[in-house]
Amino acid sequence: MAVPERDRQRYDAATAHLEPPLAVVDLAALRANAQAMTRRAGGKPIRLASKSVRCRELIGQVLRMDGFRGILAFTLPEALWLAERGTCDDILVGYPTADRAALARLAGDPGAAAAVTVMVDCPEPLDMIEKAAASTADPHPVRVCIDIDAGYLALGGRLRVGARRSPVRTPGDAAALAAAIVARPGLRLAGLMAYEAQIAGVGDNPAGQPLQAAAIRYLQRRSGTELAVRRAAIVAAVRAVAPLEFVNGGGTGSVEKTAAEPAVTEIGAGSGLYQPRLFDSYRNFRGQPAALFALPVVRRPGPGVITALGGGYLASGAANRARLPAPYLPAGLRLDRQEGAGEVQTPLIGAAADQLRIGDRVWLRHAKAGELCERFSELHLIEGNIVAVTVPTYRGEGKTFL
Ligand SMILES: Cc1ncc(COP(=O)(O)O)c(C=O)c1O
Repeated sequence: MAVPERDRQRYDAATAHLEPPLAVVDLAALRANAQAMTRRAGGKPIRLASKSVRCRELIGQVLRMDGFRGILAFTLPEALWLAERGTCDDILVGYPTADRAALARLAGDPGAAAAVTVMVDCPEPLDMIEKAAASTADPHPVRVCIDIDAGYLALGGRLRVGARRSPVRTPGDAAALAAAIVARPGLRLAGLMAYEAQIAGVGDNPAGQPLQAAAIRYLQRRSGTELAVRRAAIVAAVRAVAPLEFVNGGGTGSVEKTAAEPAVTEIGAGSGLYQPRLFDSYRNFRGQPAALFALPVVRRPGPGVITALGGGYLASGAANRARLPAPYLPAGLRLDRQEGAGEVQTPLIGAAADQLRIGDRVWLRHAKAGELCERFSELHLIEGNIVAVTVPTYRGEGKTFL
């Protein structure tokens, strides 16, 4: 029997006592993915991107594995919550915050102030942090990290690839911001981060699109070369102003490339643990699908088609078909082009439909990693062919940060 069909029988058996819709994580696949990621990092630690996991139990399990150290959180309230709950004592918030109340909580709590580092990329937030700290009775220094623009400018700046993030681009920009930080007694410069989304988050082997693949590979090569030189110069310029505890870079798609840069001390990554569908199109690694959701078959509209309940769990980003979930098991099902994945029902077409009966279940994969957890309050963690334990997602703990 082919491996996917064996997995399907395993997942069906493990969850037979549960009613779908439901979400599972296959722990063996997750562990294999984690080990593959740390092997690719070649000895540099991976800071776990919590947005790509969104489940405290799994975050804890991964942090206990060799090769993972610290959390890359996505909001300051999330980071404070994780610190308070004792999940981790080294949490970098990967995106800037303008949450004055959370900044005041951070500065007012010695434990949180020691554990959490916030992201800055211009002088205004420095004032905001200081003001929030001044509103507390006994403020503690706030740890900050400078976010660097890792985008690539081609055609003399006319074509920009990469996420629109920081305005800090040159060694001079970064050194000036570092100097502004160290001049403020209430702030501590802890690190630098530069996330090359155009390499780490864009698959270089899109199925059936050879021209696009060639263009992606060309731009990624150029961008990687440019960034390695610029990142090293920025790190040197900032280290001349103040010491740095860490230089963070990369993501699931670029682990080995980013880790190879001497200036980088750690990688920020998480998606590769669940191995969602958007991470299938990379040449440098192949993860095992670890996070899945099951929907019940509720209709049989005709030959070659079944209809499942729910399923419209679209991923964020530029809206296109790649953001849709994908039918996974049984093999041989596809979405209907007209209907996609629906709010309340999802037709699935293909030869496998005729073997499915009402009440059977179909297994799908989300396009992205942690967003699945915004749809489910629990994850059933599968070990072999049983549910070893059922744990809450962030949502299940009443936490919907974004
Ligand atoms: C700052 C930062 N680092 C790293 C990553 C990579 O995360 P992942 O490997 O989970 O895709 C992201 C993803 O958006 C990010 O925003």
